Amino acid sequence: MILSIQDRLRYWLRLAVYGSGAGSIAYRFLRRRDTPAIHEMAEYWNQELSGRMSVPNINGRIGNAIRDMTSVLLIQHCGPPPRTVLDLGCGFGDLAQALGGEGLERYVGVDLSDYVIDRVRRQCTSWPIASRCELSFHNADLREFVPEDRERFDVIVYNEVLKYVSVDEAVEQLGRYRRWLAPDGVFCVNITDDPKSRAIFRALTKKFTWVYGVVYQQRPDGPGFRITSDDATPAYLVGLFRAPAAPA
Ligand SMILES: C[S@@+](CC[C@H](N)C(=O)[O-])C[C@H]1O[C@@H](n2cnc3c(N)ncnc32)[C@H](O)[C@@H]1O
Repeated sequence: MILSIQDRLRYWLRLAVYGSGAGSIAYRFLRRRDTPAIHEMAEYWNQELSGRMSVPNINGRIGNAIRDMTSVLLIQHCGPPPRTVLDLGCGFGDLAQALGGEGLERYVGVDLSDYVIDRVRRQCTSWPIASRCELSFHNADLREFVPEDRERFDVIVYNEVLKYVSVDEAVEQLGRYRRWLAPDGVFCVNITDDPKSRAIFRALTKKFTWVYGVVYQQRPDGPGFRITSDDATPAYLVGLFRAPAAPA
């Protein structure tokens, strides 16, 4: 796929911001914290999820399915049995259904969009998994959501959502949620290839222990093994992390 000039410019700009320490310091300095970015607003996600994202094209449909299944495979093979799962930025809650094996007892989904949470609360009662698993959905910003004190999750998932918060917030939020992670629990982070996502993975690797990962990319236009920079069908990196033992 040939990148447009606009895509190239956007990519190089993001590389300048996130690819070097100096760029990200300048960005932090220039960005006004009192004006949220558009993708930090529920209205933006309400529109996206009720419009473009509710009727995905073939790239989107396959992309969503691969994203969910890759996270599920990593979780099932490299983490503890996923009995309790917290899915931050859950969207339509597809991950609950993809996980839907025998062992899942409790799934908690959290999303900034009230549209998607209302919709998924109405629809989930007819999902096959609803008969054997407790499903609950909350409308909240992942940076503010507070699970119940006694909750412990085997897996805390961030599927294609951490890129919508800053790199610092992404690291902070894994640190904050570690309180609700079961002792042998894992974080699952799944995001598209992009200079900001790379910066997030670099920062996470400094604070958390890498367990295992997979990188993949769809090929609508022909065969090829090399991962390429492509806005329409970007590569994804899915990684599992453990929180290092708390100092005694
Ligand atoms: C690209 S979609 C991914 C949805 C789902 N995780 C998946 O993999 O298909 C991003 C989702 O994250 C939600 N989101 C974005 N920022 C969020 C935040 N700060 N807190 C909670 N949810 C957020 C959006 O409303 C949207 O549903």
